[in-house]
Amino acid sequence: MARLGILGLGNMGEAIVGALLGSGFDRKNLLAFELKKDRAEAMAKRYRISIAASAKDLVQKAKYVLIAVKPQDAKALLADIAPAFDKDKLVISIMAGMTTSTILSMVQRPVKVIRVMPNICVKVAEGALGMSSNDLVSGGELDETKKMLSPLGRIVEVREDLMDAVTALSGSGPAFLLAFLEAMIDGGVNVGLPRDKASILAVQTIKGTIATLEAEKLHPTVMKEMVTSPGGTTIAGLTHLEERGFKGNLIKAIEQARNRAKELSA
Ligand SMILES: NC(=O)c1ccc[n+]([C@@H]2O[C@H](COP(=O)([O-])OP(=O)(O)OC[C@H]3O[C@@H](n4cnc5c(N)ncnc54)[C@H](OP(=O)(O)O)[C@@H]3O)[C@@H](O)[C@H]2O)c1
Repeated sequence: MARLGILGLGNMGEAIVGALLGSGFDRKNLLAFELKKDRAEAMAKRYRISIAASAKDLVQKAKYVLIAVKPQDAKALLADIAPAFDKDKLVISIMAGMTTSTILSMVQRPVKVIRVMPNICVKVAEGALGMSSNDLVSGGELDETKKMLSPLGRIVEVREDLMDAVTALSGSGPAFLLAFLEAMIDGGVNVGLPRDKASILAVQTIKGTIATLEAEKLHPTVMKEMVTSPGGTTIAGLTHLEERGFKGNLIKAIEQARNRAKELSA
């Protein structure tokens, strides 16, 4: 009996397998299934993991079943594996916008469900993950799931109705930050720096700022005030950003992303 079965070895499935094995997860406790045979074979070879004969076979052999297929493939998959579920099995779904009640309506029986919303940064074990669970999941199962997935990054537990907010903040967040980074680089070019040098300086500034914030356990406002001297360069730049509603715009961008996530999951 495997502890964890992963259905779907695409981008996310592979990132999860890589992060788990990289952190010492016992491959004997891992089973996977992927629809594309050549992809499954390549993954089995690359990660030395066992591949189940079918999705149903995987559900029969694993306690925790992590679903990493696209939401549009969920209906067919869940209808196929539903008969193999019993009261002890637990579904971990990373499918964006797929609510627990939708999953249950597809399985057509009471099943333990944990939803996880990862972001792209799980690829380097620095993911930000939101997690919610239904009432059938015990405290012990929730703890084991958190422990199993902890190599992917930081996990934050939220009520399920806040999963769309998680999608907006940490799911879409990398794109917002990258737009900011692009603007920083263009800003450097605008004041005369060559693009390659502006790029190195901007990326390192973001990395170094987060590393300092964490190492020194600083609040963002405190650290911002540390670099903002009276009448200096930083306050001149910040004043311009605030005149143009920088923070308000970002706050509203996250609200828009949350609203879109809600629309899509409906
Ligand atoms: N990528 C992200 O950054 C991200 C972030 C948060 C959440 N997610 C969620 O993660 C899930 C996976 O995303 P992804 O980017 O990894 O997608 P992906 O690369 O398309 O991977 C999904 C894989 O599952 C396979 N598959 C489809 N039906 C299957 C079945 N019945 N049994 C076994 N395998 C099956 C697909 O094969 P075919 O190609 O042949 O269909 C594909 O190889 C999605 O639900 C997405 O919403 C992704």
